[in-house]
Amino acid sequence: MSGSGKSSVLHHALATSMEAVLAGGEPVNAAKLLGAQDFGWLAVVDQDPIGRTPRSNPATYSKAYDLIRTLFAGTPEAKERSLSATAFSFNTAGGRCETCTGYGKRQVDMHFLPDVWVTCDVCDGRRFGPDVLAVTYDDATIDQVLEMTIEQAAEFFTQPPQLATVLDALVRVGLGYVALGQSATELSGGEAQRLKLANALVRGAKGGKRGLVLLDEPVTGLHPADVERLVACLDALLDKKNTVVVAEHDLHLAAVADWIVDMGPAAGADGGRVINQGAVADIIGGAGPTVAYLRKVITT
Ligand SMILES: Nc1ncnc2c1ncn2[C@@H]1O[C@H](COP(=O)(O)OP(=O)(O)OP(=O)(O)O)[C@@H](O)[C@H]1O
Ligand SMILES: [Mg+2]
Ligand SMILES: [Zn+2]
Repeated sequence: MSGSGKSSVLHHALATSMEAVLAGGEPVNAAKLLGAQDFGWLAVVDQDPIGRTPRSNPATYSKAYDLIRTLFAGTPEAKERSLSATAFSFNTAGGRCETCTGYGKRQVDMHFLPDVWVTCDVCDGRRFGPDVLAVTYDDATIDQVLEMTIEQAAEFFTQPPQLATVLDALVRVGLGYVALGQSATELSGGEAQRLKLANALVRGAKGGKRGLVLLDEPVTGLHPADVERLVACLDALLDKKNTVVVAEHDLHLAAVADWIVDMGPAAGADGGRVINQGAVADIIGGAGPTVAYLRKVITT
């Protein structure tokens, strides 16, 4: 039921409390948080932007870029020029184009109109100085790498294994078509959400302490084929003993959950209560406003 309190529980009780407890504090907006000691990390996979400046992109946010910079710094061409991994960063001075400070674009003040971005005429939008742009890794320059789609990059970089793992996760969440260097400001809400999911996948596959991964309506706006892809990603997290909690109206997704918590009975002040919960197989035979719909999805 819309307005029944799903997001409130997820964000204002579970996420805040888990975060506080992980930091050594007490639960927030909740009396108790049982079982918190089983978890070592929390990921909130929402649609909020991952950054408000073009400084962040899928490559930097996934940490793939740190590994790519190291590869470039290891080439004979870079060593000849004494270029370290830092020189291949567009966020620090040293190798980047200082005219556009590594943006590749420059903001033009249009007085009474919104600012516009124009391609930097010094580096021609390539973000770096001539020294860095002269270095190639497997015949590609660093700016060419940033223009690759994630799918192309996943084929291009087979080493080191950690980089291949990160790029594979980005492909698995369905970001294969996005450019590695696309500004965070240009990513859609769904793309930002999948980027966060990819990071959770990488972290969740490492082993060690279990993760708690929270998603709020990830199915909204997804094509049925993409829902299957999402479920596969969530299953991968579960296979590694992580826990996934999803607030969702989509009954197909609910039907594959291990445990359902039905919030209701209505919206606003008439909601906020758990009206039914259990494993799908157990609640399907019972009563409740959601059960009839759930039964339909499972029998078809
Ligand atoms: N900060 C707030 N102050 C007052 N009321 C709020 C606040 N946040 C949420 N509510 C109300 O609490 C109720 C539950 O909201 P919540 O966002 O948790 O619903 P939901 O189950 O996630 O709904 P939906 O499926 O539409 O996303 C709603 O009636 C909402 O208007
Ligand atoms: Mg909600
Ligand atoms: Zn420039």
